[in-house]
Amino acid sequence: MRSFYGLIAILSLAALSAFSQTKPAASPPIPHLQRQGTATQLIVDGKPFLMLAGELRNSNSTSPDYLKPIWARMVAMHVNTVLSAVQWELIEPQEGKFDFSLVDNQIRGAQSYNLRLILLWFGSWKNGVSSYVPSWVKTNQTRFPRVQDKTGKGSEILTTLSAANRDADARAFAALMKHIKEVDTHRTVVMMQVENEVGLGGDTRDRTEAANKAFAGPVPKELLDYMGSHKDTLYPMFRKAWEAAGSKTSGTWEEVFGANEYTDELFMGWNYASYVGRVAAAGKAEYPLPMFVNDACSMPSPGRPIPRGGGRPQPEVGNIWKVAAPAIDIRGPDLYTPNLPVWVNWYQESFVPENPMFIPETDGNTGTYHVFYVMGQYDGMGFSPFAIDEYSLARPGQKALVPADLPLARSYGVLAQLAPVILENQGKGKMAGVVAGAGEAAQKIPLGNYVLEVSYPGGRRPAGAAAAAPAPPPVSAGVSLEATELSERSGALFINMGPDEYLVAGSGALQVRFSPNTPGDPIVGILSIEEGAYAGGRWVPGRRLNGDENGGGTSLRLGGDSSRNGLIQRIKLYRYR
Ligand code: DGJ
Repeated sequence: MRSFYGLIAILSLAALSAFSQTKPAASPPIPHLQRQGTATQLIVDGKPFLMLAGELRNSNSTSPDYLKPIWARMVAMHVNTVLSAVQWELIEPQEGKFDFSLVDNQIRGAQSYNLRLILLWFGSWKNGVSSYVPSWVKTNQTRFPRVQDKTGKGSEILTTLSAANRDADARAFAALMKHIKEVDTHRTVVMMQVENEVGLGGDTRDRTEAANKAFAGPVPKELLDYMGSHKDTLYPMFRKAWEAAGSKTSGTWEEVFGANEYTDELFMGWNYASYVGRVAAAGKAEYPLPMFVNDACSMPSPGRPIPRGGGRPQPEVGNIWKVAAPAIDIRGPDLYTPNLPVWVNWYQESFVPENPMFIPETDGNTGTYHVFYVMGQYDGMGFSPFAIDEYSLARPGQKALVPADLPLARSYGVLAQLAPVILENQGKGKMAGVVAGAGEAAQKIPLGNYVLEVSYPGGRRPAGAAAAAPAPPPVSAGVSLEATELSERSGALFINMGPDEYLVAGSGALQVRFSPNTPGDPIVGILSIEEGAYAGGRWVPGRRLNGDENGGGTSLRLGGDSSRNGLIQRIKLYRYR
């Protein structure tokens, strides 16, 4: 009997030490954010890290068997960071009793493939709905109240106006972070997403009694104080609403911002941000990983100038999120749009400038070329197409695809080579990004001593761009996008490596001409173009492309139908009369 219990004890100890057996002598520093010039970088193992990421279909983390073959596919696609969900109902099936086996499985799996993880906390809300809350929350509506509409009808959405809801979520999230801290000594988990696409749909605001009372109550003083001291950097629509209502320094929501739908939006923004901010802070108190929220953003348009985001963390509520949720480091737009550059420009340029650029969800087809834009133009710290684990799976009537041959995998392959150079140059004004389509006018990009004139050559399908049906482009104030076929678009990034030298990399076909951006001789000549690769951060030249491939010495040509030209090229220029 004794020896039986002895054996059990030994086996239990062995199981418990599964993590610690592979534990390094000292853990690397905790992943954190750090500024470099105008960019924010994610620091992993003490060094800047570029996330070539992908989000798994959300239910796939709930089955270890289902998850198992996915890791190798991610590695084959040059993915280095996987976004994967943790569902509240599965880690806390009974109140206060936690089961982290699915979390451990994800960490162990990612770690064994040398991948990093971003865990997505599906707590109170997933896509705005409370579908992943534990059954002890779902079935106790009295203790855990829900959003009501004007008629008093409830919904399967937990109200933000309940301390019981918030505190139960915060306790679970804190327990999760404590556990990650204990088991993840390798720092496989690098960031956390808190909730998923929060925001109220179906009504402009919550109509519970508690919500009505708060709405009729005063705008919080800390928000008004912030508005007073940051007037010049307030989001224009937000500032305008405040000024139009008389720039009051106290009053109810409708007194301070006016009686309209935008005020409802601001009110919901304050309540979602306060709730999510408290959950994030409780988690950070246990383990301070960088934390972000993902935003199912909807852009204002001439037909709909007041967005109906129900408090989503989007630009017109950005100042409110900043004040109410200081524990949230990044608001990341989920962008499934064929004209992502227009949306990213709007998201980053029109408000709170210090929001770091991370795209938690996007489309994997357009992502093939959009990723170059995000990295080059906005110092993106990461880019993450959704359901990436499914891209190579067989579709009905079709064979499975080879993960490494997918267009996105080729883009990630190029970016994986360039990551050290990109990270070195982030935040220094030395990079630019572009997306160009067939039939579109050439874009002029001043960068260093030259202006780069970039266009899509001809109207043919670029090698490497996947064909996909384009969604109708959203219309935004002052911007229109030609209905260019997705298959006729390319993307590239440019790095100014020296006074007369550029590194160009991308997906699809592009032509780049150069003109002077500084005084001196008026004509720009091409000294040399090399295609090549980066290995260990060092340029390894391949062919010299100074003949047919450079348009008789007039331009750099990237990719193309015949793939005659490589997807990474270095060009040296000179000037003459
Ligand atoms: C956006 C959500 O954030 C994801 O979790 C997922 O539901 C996708 N939509 C599905 O398209």
